[in-house]
Amino acid sequence: MRHIMVLNAKGGCGKSTLATNIAAWYATEGATVALADYDPQRSSLDWLERRPEGRPEIHAVAAFEDGLKHAPRNADVLIIDAPARSHGPELTNLVKHAETIIVPVLPSTIDMQATSRFLEELKSVGKVERKKAKIATVANRVRDNTLIWDDLDEYLTKTRVPYVAALREAQNYVRAYTRGLGIFELPEYLAWPDWDEWEPLTSWLKSKRSQP
Ligand SMILES: Nc1ncnc2c1ncn2[C@@H]1O[C@H](COP(=O)(O)OP(=O)(O)O)[C@@H](O)[C@H]1O
Ligand SMILES: [Mg+2]
Repeated sequence: MRHIMVLNAKGGCGKSTLATNIAAWYATEGATVALADYDPQRSSLDWLERRPEGRPEIHAVAAFEDGLKHAPRNADVLIIDAPARSHGPELTNLVKHAETIIVPVLPSTIDMQATSRFLEELKSVGKVERKKAKIATVANRVRDNTLIWDDLDEYLTKTRVPYVAALREAQNYVRAYTRGLGIFELPEYLAWPDWDEWEPLTSWLKSKRSQP
């Protein structure tokens, strides 16, 4: 089973948005998918409860209650939504559960600063240092033609962590969350720009580059 975690100590950067959409993407690809939520805010599990019948099933794991004990053994992939403010020993423990880690970052000075510190801490976790967990960044809620987006793009290009995708700010994410769907499950005429932006992220997930 693959374990893919969406992680950043900064709140509100899109961890649950990415976790739910990655889970939905794998499910539409025909994989057996479980989605574990370590955040007591339980946004990922709330999303799963909204998921309509007839869509490819995703198994819920209430990890904030009892860890991954109840993760289905037959799952091909386990997507893990991590809580904000994960530092120190808690961060080291979380990282134990994943071989692939995605760090979303918003175009905001506060978020870039917080993420800089977080990435330094994450890179110093033994498992990441030994390359037993592969990390990548994703720019999220990007708006074209803004100076802060240029700053974020430049910043993420310079960090020595693979920078794999930039996702625009779009109502589609809000719409999809509300309906318990991923953006891949919205109509093409609405969501094709987002599908295009996700392509490098899903390619990275499919490739050896995201696996130790
Ligand atoms: N690309 C996006 N476009 C529009 N809204 C977004 C996008 N990514 C996240 N959001 C919104 O931003 C808020 C925070 O996202 P969320 O995924 O809950 O972050 P986190 O789990 O890191 O706290 C939510 O209201 C979510 O709907
Ligand atoms: Mg969240």
